[in-house]
Amino acid sequence: MPGRCVRVVLKLVALWMVCFLAVELYFTAFVKLQSNDGGPAVPQSEMVRHIVINNSDVRAASRSIKAPESLASRTTVNLHKVSDLSRRERSITSVKSGSESKQPNNRNSSTKPSKSRRQTELNDIFISVKTSKWYHDRLDLILETWYIMARDQVYFFTDEDNDIYRHRTRGHLINTNCSSTYDRYALCCKMSIEYDTFIASKKRWFCHVDDDTYVNVPALVTLLQLYNDTGDWYLGKPSLSYPLKTRDLDGAGQQIAFWFATGGAGFCLSRGIALKMVPFASGGRLVTACRKIRLPDDCTIGYFVYISLNKQLTVVNQFHSHLEGLWRINLGNIANQVTFSYGQLGTRRNVVQIPGYNDSYDPSR
Ligand SMILES: *[C@@H]1O[C@H](CO)[C@@H](O)[C@H](O)[C@H]1NC(C)=O
Ligand SMILES: *[C@@H]1O[C@H](CO)[C@@H](O)[C@H](O)[C@H]1NC(C)=O
Ligand SMILES: *[C@@H]1O[C@H](CO)[C@@H](O)[C@H](O)[C@H]1NC(C)=O
Ligand SMILES: *[C@@H]1O[C@H](CO)[C@@H](O)[C@H](O)[C@H]1NC(C)=O
Ligand SMILES: *[C@@H]1O[C@H](CO)[C@@H](O)[C@H](O)[C@H]1NC(C)=O
Repeated sequence: MPGRCVRVVLKLVALWMVCFLAVELYFTAFVKLQSNDGGPAVPQSEMVRHIVINNSDVRAASRSIKAPESLASRTTVNLHKVSDLSRRERSITSVKSGSESKQPNNRNSSTKPSKSRRQTELNDIFISVKTSKWYHDRLDLILETWYIMARDQVYFFTDEDNDIYRHRTRGHLINTNCSSTYDRYALCCKMSIEYDTFIASKKRWFCHVDDDTYVNVPALVTLLQLYNDTGDWYLGKPSLSYPLKTRDLDGAGQQIAFWFATGGAGFCLSRGIALKMVPFASGGRLVTACRKIRLPDDCTIGYFVYISLNKQLTVVNQFHSHLEGLWRINLGNIANQVTFSYGQLGTRRNVVQIPGYNDSYDPSR
């Protein structure tokens, strides 16, 4: 009974924070839009809509991403071979057949909680927040809200030293030394450092979010407890309703296609699958891969999962990016939702709609 009580209180707190954040984030976003201070204007996920994959590049990338022998032998996975068409076709078939349900993975397959291993706790999760010097003020909202529930688990990845935020995050502000632009190389550069930091952390789960995202920390923990972190799990939500496709320009015109979880909604990788990516992603190889396949960071993760590892995305509908209509979220289920981003869709502010909050009365909420 006391456990239940605590849960109810937590839900109420989470609900209140979502309201608070939604309103507050709106104003931050609005000011940003107005001021247009020379900072990057194109959000990362927007770029995704305009991607054209040149398959010559994909082939070249597959050929050139080589793992050192030691790494390759330590992990059980072989590098994807370009000539291995049957394997590629298999992965495409699975994309196609999964395109209706969009949920290729069966949760029950390896999700039974272990009897011998203890259950996943908050401290098993590595939460990385990608930001940049242009948007350090967005960290204020995070630091005042959901960060409080996960102070030791959250790391911020930016591109400039900042003593104030380094102090406020208790040393968890990491200067990646990447460029502060929002082009895909800068994004991939940061993702690469995020990934390496996670691998070094020995945590069970790698969860990535952007700096315009609210994370419902208790719901995230509850979600990850459903999955086996030593298995191959890639959890998130696509922003496209179809897999990213391209035609193989050099081959017989067959398609290569894969789903990816949009970085703006947040995604999580189990340590099991993250370790299998070491040959492609660690020590800056992720940047090399992005460069070769000409995709942003979140697509590149999807590429590794589908094309390099022949695994799949598990769609988790509780992740929400600003590319979907956040006002449609059913308030009855809001305590179970894991992430919320925010933004502007046309003239409409895209935030969670919660009655009882009057923005004009108190814009700081
Ligand atoms: C694809 O990339 C290759 C090598 O980079 C280049 O020669 C070719 O023209 C490109 N094709 C298209 C359609 O852009
Ligand atoms: C998973 O298992 C639960 C309980 O055993 C069952 O109710 C549910 O239908 C299963 N789901 C799938 C997709 O098999
Ligand atoms: C978790 O996954 C690993 C690797 O797939 C497997 O060996 C292990 O038995 C799984 N544990 C449970 C409890 O299902
Ligand atoms: C960034 O550069 C500084 C100074 O050279 C260095 O101390 C720091 O470790 C670098 N950060 C990363 C993530 O490599
Ligand atoms: C919000 O508060 C302002 C100031 O108190 C008031 O004028 C306005 O009517 C309120 N709006 C709504 C929708 O309650």
